[in-house]
Amino acid sequence: MMRAVRLHPPGGIDTLSVDEIEVPEPGPGEALVRVHAAAITRDELDWPTDRLPAIVSYELSGVVDEVAGDVGDLAIGDEVFALTPFDRDGVAAEDAVVPAAFLAPKPHGLSHVESAAFPLAGLTAWQGLFVRGELQPNQRVLILGATGGVGHLATQLATWRGAHVVGTASAGATELAREFGAEQVLDPTAPFVGSIEPVDLVFDTVGGHALARSADVLREGGRLVAVAEEPPPEIAERVDTTYFVVEPDRQQLVELAKLANDGILRPAIDSVFPLKDARGAFERVMSSGKRGKVVIEVNHA
Ligand SMILES: NC(=O)c1ccc[n+]([C@@H]2O[C@H](COP(=O)([O-])OP(=O)(O)OC[C@H]3O[C@@H](n4cnc5c(N)ncnc54)[C@H](OP(=O)(O)O)[C@@H]3O)[C@@H](O)[C@H]2O)c1
Repeated sequence: MMRAVRLHPPGGIDTLSVDEIEVPEPGPGEALVRVHAAAITRDELDWPTDRLPAIVSYELSGVVDEVAGDVGDLAIGDEVFALTPFDRDGVAAEDAVVPAAFLAPKPHGLSHVESAAFPLAGLTAWQGLFVRGELQPNQRVLILGATGGVGHLATQLATWRGAHVVGTASAGATELAREFGAEQVLDPTAPFVGSIEPVDLVFDTVGGHALARSADVLREGGRLVAVAEEPPPEIAERVDTTYFVVEPDRQQLVELAKLANDGILRPAIDSVFPLKDARGAFERVMSSGKRGKVVIEVNHA
């Protein structure tokens, strides 16, 4: 048996509990991972699910415990990290079954807690900036939420790519946004037009008013990429907008791990909670004023 954090019908934070359930068995193409840390994301309890009860959290760092017979490139004892698919049970548990194709070698310079904070936010930032946003060196990008879970990695990645980053960060986080690479930092409630030069790309991780106002600082032909919510129709009618859902991608994780090992990319850990206090972790992740990711650490007896 193992402990797992599960969301029960009808959903919502009050239905979370730490349950004793059977350890899952890996099927073809899968591996069983002993989870050392699993990170969580604001709003993830609201993501649509028709399969409650469901284990929460979709990113982990751990050690391979068992592999299916048809998996050739993983061995028991390998240290791995991954973003796991959203259409099956998550990974906030002592053990988790994960498709082997999504498991990448854990960055050797990072702890399990730091590595678990990487996959969902790092892949969202990578895919938003480079795949959807096609960000090029010397272009200008406005990152809404530059010190949040996704935004702090996006700020570092855009800087590494050679782009000029303007970030939004609420009071108290300005200096941190600059440390991540932002050349200019705006209060999210301040007017954007008149405060900054036009940008080639807006990457939105906040939504709401900031998202709506950001369209006005896009240069002609610029693009708005959003992940927190779909841009409203009045924005989508007048600028090139993209909303997307991040996808697991082993090769991109390998690239991110290399940047972490080279000291270029640094995940920020806002807070760490034990598995038994998963509710506390979700209360924290839903609050404003965080600095990076909230992680659940799994201690094995
Ligand atoms: N579509 C996708 O594939 C995808 C992937 C990853 C994340 N997401 C979604 O994108 C959003 C951002 O994710 P994240 O991990 O970066 O989250 P986060 O760190 O909680 O939030 C990012 C920023 O949003 C601001 N914020 C605005 N309203 C907030 C509120 N009610 N509670 C907390 N912060 C608020 C925060 O700024 P201040 O702290 O300065 O207030 C923070 O810097 C979430 O809604 C998440 O579910 C979507």
